[in-house]
Amino acid sequence: MELALNTLILPAGEAAVTEAARALAAGGLVAFPTETVYGLGADATNAQAVARLYQAKGRPAFNPLISHVADLAAAEKIGRFDTEALRLARAFWPGPLTLVLPKTRDCTVSELATAGLDTIAIRVPSHPLARAILHAFGKPVVAPSANISGHVSPTTAAHVQSDLEGRIDLIVDGGPVEVGVESTILGCFDSPMLLRPGGLPREHIERMLGRALVQPPRDAQADSAQPLAPGMLASHYAPRTRVRLNATAIAPGEALLAFGPPLAGAEHAAAVMNLSARGDPNEAAANLFGYLRALDAKAATTIAVMPIPDHGLGEAINDRLRRAAVGRE
Ligand code: TXA
Ligand code: MG
Repeated sequence: MELALNTLILPAGEAAVTEAARALAAGGLVAFPTETVYGLGADATNAQAVARLYQAKGRPAFNPLISHVADLAAAEKIGRFDTEALRLARAFWPGPLTLVLPKTRDCTVSELATAGLDTIAIRVPSHPLARAILHAFGKPVVAPSANISGHVSPTTAAHVQSDLEGRIDLIVDGGPVEVGVESTILGCFDSPMLLRPGGLPREHIERMLGRALVQPPRDAQADSAQPLAPGMLASHYAPRTRVRLNATAIAPGEALLAFGPPLAGAEHAAAVMNLSARGDPNEAAANLFGYLRALDAKAATTIAVMPIPDHGLGEAINDRLRRAAVGRE
């Protein structure tokens, strides 16, 4: 793809919101912050705009996108909510939760955006800028993470710029995001199923529902052609540098991604970044993708990652780290 576009970068504010809505309506590609990661938005109802989005990201065309809307009323126009889906939406929207539901009969979202499925992934983000843009635009916006497909998800406008400058129309800079990992995705089928761990911890959802979430069938998580959540492709979050998990020691030439007190010998590492010195999974999630990018730039032999407990946002962090390590261990 030629880098023909002049990518405008605007600071958060009314002018940026107006320009974002205008660009979306014109079929343009607009990167904007959500509370989870920066998204690359396009008019979900405009198949040509969605095609441009797939092209700009270099994304496999079978990978369906999340439709972002301003509120539950807008969501109900495109997805069919059963009682449990309604409870989930009322409890956790706006926020880092995506629901996969049957499409409504008159759903206006393009087939390309849902990759021809009869289900649709919907999310109501809580970030004030994302909400302002969705309100101003007034239609569903598909927004995958604003990175080249397979790269680490962007948590600042600078990350977006380094991947997508010249490929998209506008970047709205709202500073670093709060959550740092993508939304939790639940399939609202017979019983809610955890398709992707993410920014809303499983424990919060299970406490509200009063029971455990169903796990997807095992092979749905493998790198197959028709996975349940196709974005769960095994090697999705890939730095160029090899990633080694659960490191309890450090070898010469390795960079260290620490969590909690750094392991003995950390001073010999090629570089050290600590996701959270105090061992806080929320702080670690917010730092995760930025630190992976930074360590990837250090030309180390390997990024050694210390163990991170699997509770709270730890589950989503470990999921992303396993994907970063696939094929590189
Ligand atoms: O936090 C987030 O969710 C971010 C921000 C920008 O909102 N967006 C994001 O989008 O992570 P993306 O495109 O990177 O991930 C979308 C995920 C993929 O795993 C995709 O396969 C899944 O949603 N998905 C979309 N539609 C689906 C459907 N109908 N059934 C199952 N999975 C679906
Ligand atoms: Mg992504």
